[in-house]
Amino acid sequence: MQRSSIKMITTVALMTGCWVALACSRTDNNHSADADKKTRDTSAKFTQYYNRGEELYQQHCSNCHQVDGSGLGLLFPPLNKSDYLDKNLDDVLCLMRYGKSGELIVNGKQFNKEMKGIATLSDLEIAEIATYIYNTWENDRGLIEVSYVSNAMQTCETQR
Ligand code: HEC
Repeated sequence: MQRSSIKMITTVALMTGCWVALACSRTDNNHSADADKKTRDTSAKFTQYYNRGEELYQQHCSNCHQVDGSGLGLLFPPLNKSDYLDKNLDDVLCLMRYGKSGELIVNGKQFNKEMKGIATLSDLEIAEIATYIYNTWENDRGLIEVSYVSNAMQTCETQR
């Protein structure tokens, strides 16, 4: 009799323990999913590039591509979800400084309007803008190093 009630208490205690553990792990999962979305790379360098890139994006790019990166109809292509952006990192780095014209297909839609380059953007500023646009919205490529940008800039002539 006594033994069975001890058994029952143990069972209840175990079940409560499991429930608490489950509830906690569920909250943890939600929490880390949110955290993943906003800060995949938590290094000071990434954060600095990303934040500065966001400012530069709003200053130089959001007029056309919009703050949320959605673009504008068939006038300005989207950046928040763009197969062109995904596949052409080097070209995207180049077009920030040198511009882009001619036919361009983004997510199966054709764009054909000139984007003027911003000649005054430094390699560092291009790396910062790239780090921002490649890590916000639906994108998560990680930090784009300034040394990578400097190398890519040597190839812009052939990209265009
Ligand atoms: C005055 C409007 C305007 C501004 C400002 C502008 N763009 Fe563009 N952008 C365009 C247009 C128009 C195209 C399409 C060019 C074509 O049809 O060849 C384009 C194309 C692009 C593309 C390639 C297509 C895609 O959607 O993936 C990227 C990437 C891009 N721009 C990024 C930027 C960034 C980053 C900045 C800021 C440094 C910027 N743009 C500033 C108008 C603009």
